[in-house]
Amino acid sequence: MENKLNNKTIIEVTNLSKSFNQTMVLNDINFKLFEGESLAIIGASGSGKSVLLKNIIGLLSPDKGSIKINNEEMVNLKRSIKEKILLDLGITFQHGALFDSLQNWENIVFKVRNKEKLSNKNAKELAFSIIKHLGLNSDILDLYPSEISGGMQKRVAIARAICGNPKVLLFDEPTSGLDPVTGSLIDKLIKSAVKTVGGSAITITHDMASVCRIADKVILIDKQTISWSGTPKEMLKSDNAKIKDFIKSTNPKLFI
Ligand SMILES: Nc1ncnc2c1ncn2[C@@H]1O[C@H](COP(=O)(O)OP(=O)(O)O)[C@@H](O)[C@H]1O
Ligand SMILES: [Mg+2]
Repeated sequence: MENKLNNKTIIEVTNLSKSFNQTMVLNDINFKLFEGESLAIIGASGSGKSVLLKNIIGLLSPDKGSIKINNEEMVNLKRSIKEKILLDLGITFQHGALFDSLQNWENIVFKVRNKEKLSNKNAKELAFSIIKHLGLNSDILDLYPSEISGGMQKRVAIARAICGNPKVLLFDEPTSGLDPVTGSLIDKLIKSAVKTVGGSAITITHDMASVCRIADKVILIDKQTISWSGTPKEMLKSDNAKIKDFIKSTNPKLFI
């Protein structure tokens, strides 16, 4: 699909394939993420969405293909250089992955604090300035991740990802398991995080309402590959059986 915003490519995935023990999970994946664009990746559970994201950030290596971030080839890149590039991304994993031994505020400001040598007071204020938009109050800042609920942990992980305004955001199911109100707060934050810094985002999600709120472009992964792509509007009108099933199963109200 053509890029309506501008032509700067932030992430480019070309001919990416990945198998585990001879089982092909991803086969010949191709897409681009442009500057200022918010991309949603949808697909059934087990279709390879998280594997794709893990390949992009180098937690897994593809068997074939290329992954470029800001024009830098990530596949087989020297670890130290790769880590530097990854430090500029805001990432959340499907299962939280907070640092258990750090208080929530320390988790949130982790990257920024190392870079900018903030005082504890300023760092905590920065953490608060983010979580207040996520329906969390300051009480949780001094607690440890194990002392707050799963939904709160998820929001702390999102606060950590967007702290410091990274220009590239990658979210794996940021709203799953959250109530609809919190989910919509998170969608707003993702959208404004992309808009404010002119950044780009990839969000993996099951939630069609979320897709419609945050995405400029949607790609569907099915049978190891990208079987459909388009705008949320096109998605709602699509005849693609998989897309229709998705919409029906997640938000019947959208399926009118
Ligand atoms: N590290 C791994 N080793 C072996 N198989 C894996 C590994 N990670 C994921 N898989 C398999 O790859 C497939 C896609 O997984 P995943 O990307 O997590 O799906 P989802 O689309 O739900 O995020 C699943 O069948 C999963 O079992
Ligand atoms: Mg997943």
